[in-house]
Amino acid sequence: MDGIAELRARYLAQVADADSPEALEAVRLAALGKKGEISAKMRELGRMSPDERKAAGPVLNALKDEIDAALRARRAALDARLAQEWLDITLPARPRRHGTIHPVSQVMDELTAIFADMGFAVAEGPQVESDWYNFDALNIAPEHPARQEHDTFFMHRAEGDDRPPHVLRTHTSPVQIRAMQAHGAPLRVIAPGRVYRMDMDQTHAPMFHQVEGLAIDRDITMAQLKWTLEEFCRAFFEVDAVELRFRASHFPFTEPSAEVDIRCSWSGGQLRIGEGDDWMEILGSGMVHPAVLRAGGIDPDRWQGFAFGLGIDRIAMLKYGIPDLRAFFESDLRWLRHYGFAALDMPDLPRGLSR
Ligand code: DAH
Repeated sequence: MDGIAELRARYLAQVADADSPEALEAVRLAALGKKGEISAKMRELGRMSPDERKAAGPVLNALKDEIDAALRARRAALDARLAQEWLDITLPARPRRHGTIHPVSQVMDELTAIFADMGFAVAEGPQVESDWYNFDALNIAPEHPARQEHDTFFMHRAEGDDRPPHVLRTHTSPVQIRAMQAHGAPLRVIAPGRVYRMDMDQTHAPMFHQVEGLAIDRDITMAQLKWTLEEFCRAFFEVDAVELRFRASHFPFTEPSAEVDIRCSWSGGQLRIGEGDDWMEILGSGMVHPAVLRAGGIDPDRWQGFAFGLGIDRIAMLKYGIPDLRAFFESDLRWLRHYGFAALDMPDLPRGLSR
């Protein structure tokens, strides 16, 4: 019979080259499948004379057995390799952490989880901000004393450029304006991020973090502000019995405005939220001033809303018992290992925020 040697060489080479079970199966079908080349040769035996068949039969059978054996051997080799390269991606990560999540990032993730659950999206804005977004749009006129109180860092302008200088944003409130402009009403966002003021002592750093909250709809009231903040504190501090106290205050961008205190005790130098007779201020809030809505392109006759702003570093210190704010930004590895969080433990509400 012609071509047996060629057939043998070709299929043995293909078997050797197949490097997946699928490729190997394709070779098997081409050679030994119903419509395979060797099977076709086997069928030719039927049309041969008895003498021819006697010669060709054993040769073909031997070829078939040889290819079959080669296929099996190759398959076993592939299976062995797959078994060896197997990787269980469900294995938990090793607990010892070379890098850790900074408490500020952890708290931002916690805030995001809590407010996402209440339907708030996360909004962002630039840290180098125009004075319009940082002040004017928030109803802080150029001569307003709040401008001085903010201890603002001003950016440099080129010689002869007498436009007002940009500033390092002194609060996250300008993101309210950007979010209103970008999305209109109704709107529910929080905006966590870095802010800057010229200030430095045990409880102040020139760069720190705030989160802004903003909810705008047809009939938002202070009752909803109070509920939202209580719900947030309950989830964040992981205590059911939180109690908040609203104290009348003043911010240019809200009317009425309130500072919010949380009930706590300091007995034995340890802070307990939700019990005791002390009150600790944690945030500023109020109903969004009509001028602010207008600056954001929203009609104050049709929409109203509440807003609040709170210091992230401060609530991180409170929740996790961290005494000195300055250590937050010193990148001391021992501090980071002590106060940091495992990288793969993303906070979520069902599992608990800070396991
Ligand atoms: N922007 C204020 C600050 O940095 C905090 C604040 C107070 C934000 C009241 C608000 C608010 O949205 O309603 O001190």
